Amino acid sequence: MTEQSPGKTPAVTCLDELRARVRCWRDAGERVALVPTMGNLHAGHLALVDAARRQADRVVVSIFVNPTQFGPNEDFDAYPRTLEQDLQALGQAGCDMAWCPERQVMYPLDGGFMVKVPAGLADTLCGRYRPGHFDGVASVVLRLFNQVQPDLAVFGEKDFQQLLILRWLARDLSLPIEVHGHPTQRDHDGLALSSRNQYLSDSERAKAPLLHRCLCDLVEGLKAGRDWSSLKDTALSALEKAGLKPQYLVWCSAEDLGPPRPGSPQRLLVAAWLGKARLIDNLPVDP
Ligand code: PAF
Repeated sequence: MTEQSPGKTPAVTCLDELRARVRCWRDAGERVALVPTMGNLHAGHLALVDAARRQADRVVVSIFVNPTQFGPNEDFDAYPRTLEQDLQALGQAGCDMAWCPERQVMYPLDGGFMVKVPAGLADTLCGRYRPGHFDGVASVVLRLFNQVQPDLAVFGEKDFQQLLILRWLARDLSLPIEVHGHPTQRDHDGLALSSRNQYLSDSERAKAPLLHRCLCDLVEGLKAGRDWSSLKDTALSALEKAGLKPQYLVWCSAEDLGPPRPGSPQRLLVAAWLGKARLIDNLPVDP
């Protein structure tokens, strides 16, 4: 069934209809991009739509709050669902179709087939604190890839570990889909845009940009050749003093999340709780 009204992107919920529309575009020789989301769209998502539009003739945005990537004590029920506003925003952003499957369309077999992400990629950083999270992400993204069959898909670099895993998913399974990363969109004070920022109180929101400031200082420190372990201790103390509860702060290879290697891309990644919000951020470290 398709939902359409002026200014809004049509929302498709039926797999046959999705396939028929995409087939028409393909028959006309058009290139199709997919932007997977869980809805509650903000400027960060719309920047992904914009990037997708620059690389393809047609853009599909999927909206599905994926139960398999939430742990038992996580915010699946509370996760903000704002479909009407999302469709309006997508209409303005020039998205051609919103793919909004029901749970039974995404997971026809309850407890069905799941992707097992290799331990080296899945059990570190966020995966260490969110067991099974990346299996859930990879499983839903593989389903989305099969449903939409896009030429390319665009993901935000804010979820850097997710992006790396999805690049490997496409490569390891020889999927004919390009996986593109897009730079993190930030608020005026540097805070990375995220749907979970709305869990922050006003006073927490005022402290949250410290996460990005610490990363910027660490990049400068590393470029100046300073010792990583003392840089890290200083940053962790600053975060804790401001009331954040850091889970990890890591300097690693941007290719496989292993130890940083001289001459190849490196990344700083951080995760910290602030009140009810679990915030993540990352920055590249130029070799
Ligand atoms: O990044 C997200 O919003 C989700 O993890 C994704 C990629 C849409 C899969 O549910």
